[in-house]
Amino acid sequence: MDNIAVLSLNPALDVSYKIQKLVDDEKVHSFETRFDPGGNGINVARALKRLKIKASTCCVLAGEIGKLISNILTEELDDPHFIWEKGETRINCVIQQIEPISQYEINGMGPVMDFSVLDRLEEDLYIYSKDGLAVLTGSSPLNITYNIYYILCTRLKNAGIKCLVDADGALLSNAIKAKPFIIKPNIHELERLVKRKLTSNFEIASVALDLHNFGIEYVFVSLGYKGAIVASNEGVFYAAAPAVSVVSRVGAGDSMVGAILSVIIKGGSSAEALKLGIACGSATVQMPGTELFTMELADKLLGNINIEKIDI
Ligand SMILES: Nc1ncnc2c1ncn2[C@@H]1O[C@H](COP(=O)(O)OP(=O)(O)OP(=O)(O)O)[C@@H](O)[C@H]1O
Ligand SMILES: [Mg+2]
Repeated sequence: MDNIAVLSLNPALDVSYKIQKLVDDEKVHSFETRFDPGGNGINVARALKRLKIKASTCCVLAGEIGKLISNILTEELDDPHFIWEKGETRINCVIQQIEPISQYEINGMGPVMDFSVLDRLEEDLYIYSKDGLAVLTGSSPLNITYNIYYILCTRLKNAGIKCLVDADGALLSNAIKAKPFIIKPNIHELERLVKRKLTSNFEIASVALDLHNFGIEYVFVSLGYKGAIVASNEGVFYAAAPAVSVVSRVGAGDSMVGAILSVIIKGGSSAEALKLGIACGSATVQMPGTELFTMELADKLLGNINIEKIDI
């Protein structure tokens, strides 16, 4: 399973501002500003690069913001491919407030996607993930049906390509019907999927196992500061996240997805994937703005993560 392609249907330019305090009706000056290409697909591609896993990124861009993103990604990623559409790529804004510490996030609206763009994207996915794996992650443009990951996953599977799906709501519930190879919902996404609260690790593990038995090879469920659970044919495992001081949570899930993939693609175990996934996720929350983990930090955390088997 060599080729990996990461889809970025709805990328964004992430602008992060650090400010002292938001004040009603007053102008606030940022004392630190960052611009980063963002969106889940791009973050997963950046995570894979840090993990030294070669991947192609198939990214839809538009307008001047799109040009800026393409310049940055051409420098940053190994094999980015851009499909250009009309309009302007969206801007997402993260505000990190110092006093009291909190984070605000505003996501912009992306352009309306032309269906010919979708066809070209699908062609690119076949080419760049041939005999390998495609990562389908993140939101879709507003005019694209919530069946999109289901359709792509079904067609890619028929072409001998495995899929990792990380999505929410109907995008995820529909995609599951196509039995992707790997899914990585967080606890909230999983609760929305099964339409009930899951209050114990045992309950979460049993839902993960049901999904695995339904036909999904690896079901990873991330639990934020509590860690994560995996169900696969190797069993069901839980590991707590290390206690770390959180600077910015942006990209934690995407770092975990990249790390999980980097282990599974090399034939590693689901417990190893869980461990590295948690280490990279927990390293990312210690980084400012949209910055992802460093391998140095993730390696340090690995020693503090212990796998527990859940007997179920
Ligand atoms: N507060 C935290 N402290 C320590 N680790 C954390 C914290 N929040 C997240 N993590 C780490 O990151 C992993 C993924 O986090 P989370 O469950 O929040 O993913 P997510 O909701 O999919 O994130 P995203 O919003 O990026 O999609 C967790 O399993 C954990 O290892
Ligand atoms: Mg997520």
